[in-house]
Amino acid sequence: MNTKKKRIIILIVAAILWLVLSYLYSVEKEKKNYESDNGYSVNYSEASNATGVVKEFDITASQTTYALAEGIEIDGFTYNGEVPGPELRVELGDTVRVNFTNDLPQETTIHWHGVRVPNAMDGVPGVTQDPIQPGESFVYEFTPKDAGTFWYHPHVRTSEQVERGLYGTLIVEDPADPEYSQDVTWVVDDWRITETGELNEAFNTNHDLMHDGRWGNVITVNGSSDEQLSVKPGERIRLRLVNVSNGRVYTPDFSRLDAALIAVDGMKVAGVMSANGFELAPGNRIDVDISIPQTYAGKTIVITDTYTRNINTLGKIVVGDMGDTVATPDFEYPIATDVSSWVNATNEPVDYEYVLDAERTDTGIVWTMNGEVYPNGEIAEFEKGEFVKIRFTNNSGRLHPMHLHGQFFKVLAKDGALVNEGYLRDTVLVNGKETVDVGMVPLDEGTWANHCHILEHAESGMVTAITVK
Ligand code: C2O
Ligand code: CU
Ligand code: CU
Repeated sequence: MNTKKKRIIILIVAAILWLVLSYLYSVEKEKKNYESDNGYSVNYSEASNATGVVKEFDITASQTTYALAEGIEIDGFTYNGEVPGPELRVELGDTVRVNFTNDLPQETTIHWHGVRVPNAMDGVPGVTQDPIQPGESFVYEFTPKDAGTFWYHPHVRTSEQVERGLYGTLIVEDPADPEYSQDVTWVVDDWRITETGELNEAFNTNHDLMHDGRWGNVITVNGSSDEQLSVKPGERIRLRLVNVSNGRVYTPDFSRLDAALIAVDGMKVAGVMSANGFELAPGNRIDVDISIPQTYAGKTIVITDTYTRNINTLGKIVVGDMGDTVATPDFEYPIATDVSSWVNATNEPVDYEYVLDAERTDTGIVWTMNGEVYPNGEIAEFEKGEFVKIRFTNNSGRLHPMHLHGQFFKVLAKDGALVNEGYLRDTVLVNGKETVDVGMVPLDEGTWANHCHILEHAESGMVTAITVK
């Protein structure tokens, strides 16, 4: 064969390969992107892709004395004796099976915050299951449909049980993601501690109800008031921040570190931006990509919270010596290129509005959605696969981080002005007197809670539900 012929054959083979690959790629794309009837698409799948691998965990909730810091010992509630409870790490496609036992003196459930589970696994008493009585067990089983940073917590007497320490994380790894030097979770909580070093056991006080819930005076990361992450110069870290506080909002400040926001509420962002300034409300998570410059050898970097005028320390990153320097892993940010902007949705009519407000009662106040206290409100019905626009109108001056179970939505506008966040969320902070419009394409059938994640507000009425049919 002469070289001319060879070249032609190579060209033909390459062309065929290209056609096959681009066809396969478009099929792959179609599977991932769900297009609603009205043309708005979401970049997550309708079904889970179970591989058949089952990851089984045993979790017991019990009453535990727990040392938070020097001189602080609390009468806590824990999962497996730890605060936070065990971090459940699985891969996308794995089935999670949790054999749960309630050894608490109270009834409880487990809710998988942000995970699109089958409705019956969502852990909401009165909506998806009966509360699990003391001494009883329940098996939670589901296959996560999305990779990302999620967390679990009770949905019974939540303001008390979470405050006592009942929470843990569920990390669903995406096998397609690059390998970081370290993949670390920081679970951020605050506690109200008395002068004698105990947990203040006055829950749901009128003061907390009239304000933004219970804000504590001791902040912990992973159950410690002095959390330190040791890194080597040059390392590239994936840091997952989870806000499990009852009411407190944090604005993490990564100091001089270059901290790239790569995911919000578990969902990958369309393009990276700085993680500095992100308002991490109760329920929210962010994934941050941080490369430690070699010039930081021997230094300690303090990560702070700047949400209020008082600057709080969250945790520290302690950088090792020059001699331990490693080469920084070089890869593209693991982000999603297929997050639709939905900018046209600002022109769509509002399908459902929630007015958020408080009402005085003889004993204090209650928090309402459309004038009703849970469980009296109307259950909104949405069509599966159809784009809906939901408006939260805050008539009060307080904060309301609104959270929808079983769904992700996109913020479209605040006070009527276009917002293009570049990612989906499951919890959005609605500021005092603010109106926030969100859009979503619900794909998961069932009745799902929709509530304020300031746990005291939820406890006093600010909960409703939606049904996806
Ligand atoms: Cu963290 Cu009803 O949820
Ligand atoms: Cu949730
Ligand atoms: Cu609220």
